Order: sequence, then C-alpha cells, then structure tokens
Amino acid sequence: MTPSELNIQVPFVPATRYPIVIGRDFVSGLLARLREQFPKRRPFVISDANLQKSGWLDKLIGADTVGRFVIDPAGEDSKTWATVGAIVEAMEHLSLGRDTLVIGLGGGTVGDMAGFAASIFKRGVPVVHVPTTTVAQADSAIGGKTSVDSSQSKNAFGTFHHPAGVYIDVATLGTLDDRQFRAGLVESVKHALIADAGYFAFLETNLDAILARDLDRLEQLAGFNCRIKGAVVEQDPTETNQRRLLNYGHTIGHAVESAAAYRLLHGEAVAIGIAAALQIEKQMGLADADRIERVCALLCRLSVPLVIPTDLSTDSFMDLLTRDKKTVGGWPRFVLLEKIGKPLVRSGQYAHEVAPEIVRSILNPHA
Ligand SMILES: NC(=O)c1ccc[n+]([C@@H]2O[C@H](COP(=O)([O-])OP(=O)(O)OC[C@H]3O[C@@H](n4cnc5c(N)ncnc54)[C@H](O)[C@@H]3O)[C@@H](O)[C@H]2O)c1
Ligand SMILES: [Zn+2]
Repeated sequence: MTPSELNIQVPFVPATRYPIVIGRDFVSGLLARLREQFPKRRPFVISDANLQKSGWLDKLIGADTVGRFVIDPAGEDSKTWATVGAIVEAMEHLSLGRDTLVIGLGGGTVGDMAGFAASIFKRGVPVVHVPTTTVAQADSAIGGKTSVDSSQSKNAFGTFHHPAGVYIDVATLGTLDDRQFRAGLVESVKHALIADAGYFAFLETNLDAILARDLDRLEQLAGFNCRIKGAVVEQDPTETNQRRLLNYGHTIGHAVESAAAYRLLHGEAVAIGIAAALQIEKQMGLADADRIERVCALLCRLSVPLVIPTDLSTDSFMDLLTRDKKTVGGWPRFVLLEKIGKPLVRSGQYAHEVAPEIVRSILNPHA
C-alpha cells in the first residue's frame, strides 16, 4: 500500500503587538488598571519571596483578593519543572480557566516561569510582566522566551509566549541588591554595543546617576533597552538570525558561567564574554585600542570581572564551547562588532566563524 500524504495548512499567526509601559511608582495602582484593561479576565499573580519581603508584592495586590503564588526560595534554584508544576496546580485549584491573566512580578526567574506557566495553562493564557531587576527590565521581560532549567543545563525547556503587556516601574529597582543591579546593567552595555553608539555615550555620561538609581536616568535607560531589544525581536520573533545579535558576549559568557558553576552572576559572566569578544575582534583586525579602552572602562565602572577566573582550565573551557547550544559542526559562531553600535554582518549573517586557535590564545594568553 502506498502511503498517502495529507497536508494541513495552519493559518499564519500574526506577531503579537503589546504595550511596554515605562514609568515610576505605579505598582500600587497597577492591578486595578489591569482589571480595567482586561475586564473579562481573572488575574493570577506570580512573584517570589524577596518581592514579598521588599514590599512590592503587597503594593501590587493591596486589598485585592487576587489568587497568587509566591516562589520560595526565590532565584535560579527554583526555576524548575517542579515549581512551574506547582504554579499551574495552584491555578487549577482556584478553578481558573482560559480567561486567566497571569501577572509576573519579579526578576527574570519569575518572568521565565510565569511566562512558561501561562503558555501551558489551559493550552495558553496571556501573561503580563512587571519586571523588577536590571536584567528583567532590559532583557527577559521582552522577547517572549520562557523557560526552566533541567538537572543538566540552564533554560533547557521552554516555549515562546509573547506577553500581553510589559509594565516597567523603575522605582522597584530601589530595593535590588547592588551586585545584582550592577551585573544586570551589563545587558544594557551589550545593547548599546550591538545597536546604538549614542546609547553607549549616554551610558558613559550617566553611569554614576544610574548607579545612584536616579529615577529619571533609569526611565531613559529602560527606554533605550526596550527600543533596542523590541526592534530586534520584531525582526526575528523566533530567533532564526538577527536575534543572534543579542548573544554578543554570551558564547564565551555562557561557558564561563557554567565552568564557574554559577558562582558568577549571568551579567558578570557576560562581561567576561564581552571582554573576550573584544580580544577576538582585536586579533581579527576589527577593534582598535580606543574601542577596547572605552568598553573596558565602562564595564570596570560596573565593578564586574573582565578576566576568566584563573582556576578554570582552558581545555575544559574549550570543551564547554563545543557544547554551546548554537554550534555549527561542533564549534560555535561568534557575534562580533565592526565598531561600537555596529555589528559585523557578512552575507546577511550575524554570527561568524572564529578559529579555535584564536579563542584558545585568548583564554590562555600566557601559554
Ligand atoms: N527570557 C529571556 O529572554 C531571558 C533573558 C535574560 C535572562 N533570562 C533569565 O533571567 C534569569 C535572571 O534574571 P534576574 O537576574 O532578574 O534573576 P532573579 O529573578 O533571580 O532575581 C535576582 C534576585 O533579586 C531578587 N529581586 C528581584 N527583584 C527585586 C527587587 N526589586 N528588590 C529586591 N529583590 C529583588 C530576586 O528575588 C532574586 O533573589 C535567569 O534565569 C535567566 O535565564 C531570561
Ligand atoms: Zn544575557
């Protein structure tokens, strides 16, 4: 019997459009505003123990009797199947249905899990993000990637689920731990490097005010980040080519992060990855001394590390690079810059071949 073939045409799902609201001191009124904006939906809030301790969760909820799930302990260790399973079970216990609106209040871990839970609950309900860290406000809340970690690797399982709205209240950053705050700003430096020399100059001029958490500057910062990440995501919503740009500094950064067994924060590892990318660019004749000095000077002001911890062996590191998620023929491609604000694009490609010997020489400069 010859097999027959059946073709099913799935109608094209248009890319979602959603508002990104940037401001300050609006968390208190936000739930009422969301109830008005989504009148037919029942909200459910997902947050974590630190947002509860710092008072933001109470501010969001006020006297409302909305259903909620507080992730405890907060942070990466809880970003698992088990937590997402507990969240959707809690939603089920409240007899929530397809008319649910998930609201994620917190950093990237809360956002990734809130997005994931929303994407699988009753086959998908909308999520609204209220990001409260420098990482989440610049990066994770925009783009629609959701995930949990496996026992083997970070962000092993996940979905694409674009939010129905992103509400950035920069005042929430006021209670964020200083190390987290600074490390998260590395993603802002990355955005400036891949997309906007004027933004880089803004960071050079305003970094002290940003570090002092001046709310005007933080709003401007969020604006730059959202425009840049939003534009990249709009061009490439499911990460096929241009979105790779956002991986600048991340190829070596991810390997450092995992080799250091996560004792470095993500942004700290990415800072090392950016410094390494600069060295690659220098060896390939793409970066001059002035660029290297400006970028390193800005990163130094964030008090993030720029060199690979000496206890990590070059061989294990090279091995980790071959296990990068985006290898071609067992070796990763690297996003590189032509100059500040301008990525290197060759034949329409944003990630490039770099000889392993070049990478090895950078990882182990005294060999
Ligand atoms: N989906 C994406 O596109 C994307 C992009 C980048 C990062 N991520 C993910 O984001 C996660 C990292 O995000 P993160 O750095 O925000 O981590 P996080 O969510 O763990 O937050 C860092 C710590 O700060 C606490 N915190 C958050 N906001 C606070 C506030 N306003 N005041 C006081 N404490 C606060 C948290 O409870 C946590 O302990 C990683 O899991 C990463 O994989 C996802
Ligand atoms: Zn990152």
